[in-house]
Amino acid sequence: MARILTGIQSSGVPHLGNLLGAIIPAIELSKDANNESLFFIADMHSLTTIRDAKQLKENTYATAAAWLAFGFDTNKNIFYRQSDIAEVCELMWYLNCNTPYPMLANAHSFKDKASKLHHVNAGLFTYPVLMASDILLYDAEIVPVGKDQKQHLEMTRDMAKAFNHTYGETLIEPESRIDERVMIIPGTDGQKMSKSYNNFINIFLPDKKLRKQVMGIQTDSTPMEDPKDPTSCNVFKIYKLLASQEQTNNMELNYRGGNYGYGHAKQALYEVIIEKYAQERIRFNELMDNTALIEQELLKGAEKARSIAQNVLKRVRTKIGY
Ligand code: ADP
Ligand code: TRP
Repeated sequence: MARILTGIQSSGVPHLGNLLGAIIPAIELSKDANNESLFFIADMHSLTTIRDAKQLKENTYATAAAWLAFGFDTNKNIFYRQSDIAEVCELMWYLNCNTPYPMLANAHSFKDKASKLHHVNAGLFTYPVLMASDILLYDAEIVPVGKDQKQHLEMTRDMAKAFNHTYGETLIEPESRIDERVMIIPGTDGQKMSKSYNNFINIFLPDKKLRKQVMGIQTDSTPMEDPKDPTSCNVFKIYKLLASQEQTNNMELNYRGGNYGYGHAKQALYEVIIEKYAQERIRFNELMDNTALIEQELLKGAEKARSIAQNVLKRVRTKIGY
């Protein structure tokens, strides 16, 4: 049984790009009977940039509700909130005291963030140590992350190696699984869908608002009667990711045949979203209306996570001489 672990930063309601690019594939991976997945909401990492308590809480709930609505199995796996297991800070201190300062000073993501922000807090600097602690505290074997996290994973391995070198075999060196697949979901303006570009589709919105987002997808000015090229159209690109092969073929024929406007295509996309994600939309909203259910799931996960964490910490404390 391989133990897979990954952290999810919570920056609001997950959009269609987050769902198709990260959440749904991770849930699929977690279904393998040979794996045990630990997925957590990295709300302590969020604190490096978010200092609004209400926003922090809402982001956590929205992120958790999306994972749960898409069927992440919290009985087979472990789903928790990073801040519920404060043990992670204890291990972080032990790792801090074994980590050379220049390793952190040279991290790309730190240099990048530090160059853009007015106030650079120490949390941004030690961010990779907290991330290493997230991983090593649970004896994780495989850590699936995007390319941007590659250096953080290398640092985690270096920290585990250094600790083991000093104290003898204690921490498991995790294997990273960098997702090289470039499945970039386009946004309503054709760029990568992202919260920061405000070009996203939030499938959990009420019908009218969702329809408005879909109707806002940018298209060219080819007149209704003229044939159109589906491959260069943002509506078709998104539709193709969600519709069946038959529906996609039909839309392609409609584009090429003429007398089919972008408004028709947008309406078809809206309908496919409503139909395909009917259950998930209901479930998400039920959870957001009753956050006690989300709390219950997260606390169940925290209990399981804590028991692994405490065992690992016991091992570490003995080795360092406590
Ligand atoms: P955003 O750009 O909206 O802030 P994040 O950087 O928080 O999104 O991404 C969270 C996860 O969702 C990451 O694993 C990222 O790779 C994935 N993701 C985000 N946007 C897209 C997209 N347009 N297509 C595919 N995956 C995406
Ligand atoms: N830093 C990661 C990101 O921004 C999130 C994260 C925190 C993480 N801790 C982790 C990912 C541990 C994998 C393992 O995406």
